[in-house]
Amino acid sequence: MIVGKFPAYRPRRLRKNENIRSLVRETHITIDDLIYPMFVVEGKGIKEEIPSMPGQYRYSIDTLVEKVEEVKELGIKAIILFGIPKHKDELGSDSFNDEGIIQRALRALKENKNTKDMYLITDVCFCEYTNHGHCGYLNEKGEVDNDETLKLLQKQVVSHAKAGADMVAPSGMMDGMVKAIREALDKNGFSDIPIMSYSVKYASAFYGPFRDAAESAPAFGDRRSYQMDPPNKREALREAALDIEEGADILMVKPALSYLDIISLLRENFSYPIAAYNVSGEYSMVKAAALKGYIDEKKIVFEILTSIKRAGADMILTYHALDVAKWLKEG
Ligand code: PBG
Repeated sequence: MIVGKFPAYRPRRLRKNENIRSLVRETHITIDDLIYPMFVVEGKGIKEEIPSMPGQYRYSIDTLVEKVEEVKELGIKAIILFGIPKHKDELGSDSFNDEGIIQRALRALKENKNTKDMYLITDVCFCEYTNHGHCGYLNEKGEVDNDETLKLLQKQVVSHAKAGADMVAPSGMMDGMVKAIREALDKNGFSDIPIMSYSVKYASAFYGPFRDAAESAPAFGDRRSYQMDPPNKREALREAALDIEEGADILMVKPALSYLDIISLLRENFSYPIAAYNVSGEYSMVKAAALKGYIDEKKIVFEILTSIKRAGADMILTYHALDVAKWLKEG
């Protein structure tokens, strides 16, 4: 196993041409690795580009359905949906309203014959739905009330499941959220719906463009009291272990690129599937440089996604998914 012990071994022999390189290649990116995030807004006929995320759009339900047909055509099997409601309030009540934006989007996708087989994951959170932009219910002091939020999360996931979600992905980093969600799903006849938990989610500046896209920037303060502190690594193991104990099916690490060591740490310590979220800021940096002609976008994107998989991720949530699907088709 130790490199250097075998003087006759010359690595370059295995790099001579693409035939041999592809035989010894350890990591491959395929269409099956990708989950495409999409944003849905109220209205009709809307497809508006997100200024900080060139090439990504907010869709109204009708144009979303059309776009998902195209996404499916490209061979992508799963999307994650983010709802941006018109009506925002203290509780984020649109998120658990059976007639809410996400619920109607889910039903529309499940009712259309060309999109009904798409695997639909919903982001489960409150920041897009509350008028204060925090990820949960606020107490009188203006702090997120963890346990009240859990009750609202239960309502939200049951409502998503009833509307047709195939999997739920809680992203709010509340303590006990996976357990609460599992219990609510089981009690309401949805024991076969898996939970992809944003288990290891750091308080990161890389979410900046997303908060523009989803209108979810906190009106005051920040998320550092519930999201992880970027310098911490051992804590990631505790977060992941807790989520497993509470019933998570898939563990997510977010962001991906500056946290490859965390992905690799979880891979070594747990047998559970790992998802990595190649977040908005990571996407926008690449796009901005590509638009300026500073980098080779296709090569950079493949190198980035490869690094995430090599670190140990089984699946990647990425805004590059459609481009990658097209590039994979071209060969
Ligand atoms: C919370 C949520 C966020 C992202 C996904 N789910 C924002 C946040 O935590 O502030 C960020 C995704 C991205 O940056 O691409 N609902």
